[in-house]
Amino acid sequence: MAKRALITGITGQDGSYLAELLLSEGYQVFGVVRRSSSQHFERIGHIQDQLTLLSGDLMDEVSLINVLRECRPQEVYNLAAQSFVQTSWLQPVLTGETTALGVTRMLDAIRTVDPSIRFYQASSSEMFGRVKSVPQNEETDFYPRSPYGVAKVYGHWITVNYRESYQLHASSGILFNHESPRRGLEFVTRKVTHGVARIQAGLDTQLRLGNLDAQRDWGYAADYVKAMYLMLQRDEPTDYVIATGISHSVRELCEVAFGAAGLHWEDHVVLDPAFLRPAEVDHLIGDAAKAQQELGWRCEVDFYGLIEMMVAADIAALTT
Ligand code: NAP
Ligand code: GDD
Repeated sequence: MAKRALITGITGQDGSYLAELLLSEGYQVFGVVRRSSSQHFERIGHIQDQLTLLSGDLMDEVSLINVLRECRPQEVYNLAAQSFVQTSWLQPVLTGETTALGVTRMLDAIRTVDPSIRFYQASSSEMFGRVKSVPQNEETDFYPRSPYGVAKVYGHWITVNYRESYQLHASSGILFNHESPRRGLEFVTRKVTHGVARIQAGLDTQLRLGNLDAQRDWGYAADYVKAMYLMLQRDEPTDYVIATGISHSVRELCEVAFGAAGLHWEDHVVLDPAFLRPAEVDHLIGDAAKAQQELGWRCEVDFYGLIEMMVAADIAALTT
C-alpha cells in the first residue's frame, strides 16, 4: 500500500516541489485547496492528474478534520500560511489567524482524527529577526520583527508544545529563505529576476526596490523540501535549521541577476521608500549542521546557480 501524505499550501512554491518529491517516492499525495472564485493551479498543473485535491482552509477546523477523515494520511506537511512579510503589517490579524492559529487547528484536527499522524510545521528564519547570535541554529533565541515573524513563533512553539503535551510526532523545520522560478512575484528574488527579464525584453526600464542592504541566506526550494520529507522519516521528532550557511545582500542579488542578462543594475534599479518595512530583519545566516549530521541533508544549488536559473526561466517565459 502506498503511503499517504497531505500537504496544506500545495498550490504554493514549496507545496508544488514537495508534491513532486513525494510522488517520486511513491506516495499517494493529497492537497488542501481553499475555495476561490478563480482557480490558480499554475505550479501544480503539470502533476494535477496525480494529486487528489480536497477543499479546506486553515481558518476552519471542521474542514481540516473532514479532510483528514477523507484521506487518512500518515504524514501531514503544514505549508499553508499568509507568507509575505510586508503584507503582515497590513493584515496582522489575518496573518495571526492563518500563520499562527491555523497551526493549532491542524494539530487539534490531527489529535481528533489520528494522533499517530506525523506532522511537519513550516517554521521560518524570520523568527530570528533581530538576531541574537550569528549564525543562527536551533538553540538561537527568537526576536521576531514583523507580525508574520510573531505568528511563526507561535506556530513553532505550539508544535513543540503539542509534541511534548500529547506525544505527537511533530517536527518543525526552521527554513531560511528559499527561492525558485516558482517563487511569488512579490518576493525580492523573483521580483528582481522577473524585472530583469522585462527590462531585457524592452518592456520596462526601471525596477523599484526598498532596502538594498538587507542580507539573506538564500537557497533553492527544491533542495529544501527534501529536508521536510527527511524530518518525518526520523523515529524521533525534533526541530531543524535548514540553510546554506552563506548570505548575500539584496544589492549583490541585483548585481548577479542583471549581470546574468548582460545588464548593469545601477542603470535600472530605483530606490522606492514604498518597499521599506516598518521594522527590518537586517541579516540572516543559518547553521544547518544538525540537519547535515542527522538527516544527511545537503543543498545542491548555490546562490549564483539559483539566481541564474531564475533569470533564465523568466527570460524564457517572456520569449515563448
Ligand atoms: P507561498 O508560495 O506563499 O504558498 C502559501 C500557500 O498557503 C498557498 O498554497 C496558499 O494558498 C496557502 N494558504 C494561504 N492561506 C491559507 C488558508 N487560510 N488555508 C489554506 N491554505 C492557505 O509560500 P511558500 O514560499 O511555498 O512557503 C511555504 C511555507 O513555508 C509557508 O508557511 C511559509 O511561511 C514558510 N516558509 C517559507 C520560506 C521561503 O523562503 N519560501 C521560508 C521559511 C518558511 P492559495 O494558493 O490559495 O493562496
Ligand atoms: N519583497 C521585497 N520587495 N523585498 C525587498 C524589496 C522589494 O522591493 N526591496 C528590498 N527588499 C528586502 C526586504 O526588505 C527584505 O529585507 C529582503 O529584501 C527579503 O524580502 P522578501 O523576499 O520579501 O523575503 P523575507 O525575507 O521578508 O521573507 C521570506 O523569507 C522568510 C524566511 O526568512 C518569506 O518567504 C517568508 O515567508 C519566509 O518565512
